[in-house]
Amino acid sequence: MSEKSTRNGWFQGSEIHCCSPTSSRSRSYRLILLGPPGVGKGTQAQLLSEKLRACHLSTGDLFRSAACQSDLSPALEAALSAMRRGELVSDELVMSMIRERQHCLHCQGGFLLDGVPRTICQAKALDELLHELDVDLDAVISYELPLEQIVDRLGGRRTCSGCKAVYHLKSNPPKAVGVCDQCGGELICRDDDRPEAITVRMKAYDAATRPLNDHYANQGRLLKISADGSPLEILQRTLDALGGIVLNRRARERV
Ligand code: AP5
Repeated sequence: MSEKSTRNGWFQGSEIHCCSPTSSRSRSYRLILLGPPGVGKGTQAQLLSEKLRACHLSTGDLFRSAACQSDLSPALEAALSAMRRGELVSDELVMSMIRERQHCLHCQGGFLLDGVPRTICQAKALDELLHELDVDLDAVISYELPLEQIVDRLGGRRTCSGCKAVYHLKSNPPKAVGVCDQCGGELICRDDDRPEAITVRMKAYDAATRPLNDHYANQGRLLKISADGSPLEILQRTLDALGGIVLNRRARERV
């Protein structure tokens, strides 16, 4: 199996750096993954981070790992209760957590932003931050899938309480029931995978996040990819689309 980044810099913030593997990488990618809850962004981020050696930066995982801390700030308490209801966390808190971790956007191996931005306000703030840091986004991938398949994916999801690896009871079961293959951690069902919270999350996606497709299409960065099929088929589709971007960029550079 390929080496993986430890994601320490992302989870612990400040200037802590991940142990990010650097060998045999021909180029690094800086990508945003968009798509409705349960479409498979986290699963693809996990596979892409192994393939591209880019750091998986998930705001959902960040908030869920903060939930394990003993001394939570009132802002984080409010964020976690919004999450349990399926609502979005405030733009201010999300962007302040990203700013605290802006060194991750300079990660040598590149990055896969999963779960952020989620509103036009966050997208504009992120555009400004990347501009300030002189970091260029390669592409924004929007995964697409019919609702009934999404509901099935969310219903069978199990997540590692330790390393956050994602499983599915039918399509990607762990080798031993309830135990993470990668770190031996306990597999749990997320609080916001209850049917009431799923409905709220889908509405939040339609109202606040779907309009981001137009924002990034206007920048010429949007790649729409079908999330139908097995995780490995979708990974290949994504890599093929990314390969096209590199070829197009090289062709533009030659002109
Ligand atoms: P977040 O953790 O980002 O959740 P999400 O966007 O709702 O997405 P999910 O993690 O539910 O799904 P996914 O697309 O990653 O699918 P997965 O790969 O797990 O955010 C959670 C909450 O945090 C938000 O609701 C909000 O409150 C807050 N938040 C986070 N960021 C925020 C922000 N920027 N602003 C405001 N609030 C924010 O796959 C799902 C299941 O399907 C798994 O079981 C998987 O094994 C299975 N599966 C995946 N691919 C396939 C396949 N191809 N075939 C069959 N099964 C598959």
